[in-house]
Amino acid sequence: MAYFTQNAHRAGRHFLQIPGPTNVPDRVLRAMDNPTMDHRGPDFGVMGRQILGNLRQIFQTTQPVVIYPASGTGAWEAALVNTLSPGDTVLMCRTGWFASLWQEMAERLAIVPEFIDTDWRRGADVEKIGEALRADTGHRIKAVCVVHNETSTGSTSRIDEVRAAIDAAGHPALLMVDTISSLGSIDYKHDAWGVDVTIAGSQKGLMLPPGLSFNALSEKAIAASKTAKLLRSYWDWAPMLAANEGGYFPFTPATNLLYGLDTAIQMLLEEGLPNVFARHDRHAEATRRAVRGWGLEIQCLDPRHYSSALTAVRLPEGHSADGLRATILERFNMSLGNGLGPLKDRVFRIGHLGDFSDLQLMGTLSGVEMGLRAAGVPHQSGGAQQALDYLSTT
Ligand SMILES: Cc1ncc(COP(=O)(O)O)c(C=O)c1O
Repeated sequence: MAYFTQNAHRAGRHFLQIPGPTNVPDRVLRAMDNPTMDHRGPDFGVMGRQILGNLRQIFQTTQPVVIYPASGTGAWEAALVNTLSPGDTVLMCRTGWFASLWQEMAERLAIVPEFIDTDWRRGADVEKIGEALRADTGHRIKAVCVVHNETSTGSTSRIDEVRAAIDAAGHPALLMVDTISSLGSIDYKHDAWGVDVTIAGSQKGLMLPPGLSFNALSEKAIAASKTAKLLRSYWDWAPMLAANEGGYFPFTPATNLLYGLDTAIQMLLEEGLPNVFARHDRHAEATRRAVRGWGLEIQCLDPRHYSSALTAVRLPEGHSADGLRATILERFNMSLGNGLGPLKDRVFRIGHLGDFSDLQLMGTLSGVEMGLRAAGVPHQSGGAQQALDYLSTT
């Protein structure tokens, strides 16, 4: 295929170390490589019920999770249009690029976002959320919307603390959380944290190709959907929930991606969610040790908000992160994430999520260290060694 690595064969595997889409395990690829079945036939119902049941464990919920054949953006829209009415106010935390895109979407849908800004170097400001809710004695704010893991900065917001702030203010707002780059990588508890709508996507911690997205619901969210006035058709939860009862969908589902999802869920449950999260924490710590060893700066400034899914690394002033990424792609056949919005060319992002092992991480960090040297970026050598020391003793 002519579009792979500029036409020429390159020996060895490409390292896809962007923070999603992530590497798809062979077992998932094999599962998708099965004949597409009749999505209204009896076999499909059995598979659909199995997937819809098991999927709840990944969200740590006993409540319904709906699946859309769409990227994560579709599930953002579904969350908003099912629960809100034109002119409703929502409280959003601008933690980075993705939070900003969600806010722009809300505006286009005639929702009125009230923002809490950050410097893009930490997670959501829980104090300010509490303050805004306490000040809203008339309960104008209908929902609090937070991105759990801000993929543009590598900062993870404390959803347990956001929940506590909402409860402490005695505010009835819905809580909506984007877990597109955290689900299946960073511990996330839809039920225990009282989240009303969790938004997720297939192409990151779930180890699938892009193309599926999710809304995990609460009773309160379903009740809100009965009176919400925003127009919706394709995204409407009601026909979806009705069809899902039998394991079916109100339209043609992405059957082969669902085969993959079934397998990916099994893989996560076989490893055990606590082990999956610990693996990601460990790889993130090893990566941060490497970055510090190179004498470079981590974009996230608050250690309580460090992301276990990715690390965004700042380049010294006057040096191009995109130039470094281009060198690494050209010389070592590895893709790293780019800086987004105001971080363009200032940071590069190392994805360490999904189907990922110690040796893959060391290949990645070695590639970055060789790239720093090849691209002439001022740094100290030996960062990868710091990661090796950590991985070999923990
Ligand atoms: C945190 C977050 N939210 C939303 C999105 C948008 O999802 P998609 O590109 O799948 O539509 C992304 C994509 O990377 C993301 O990382």
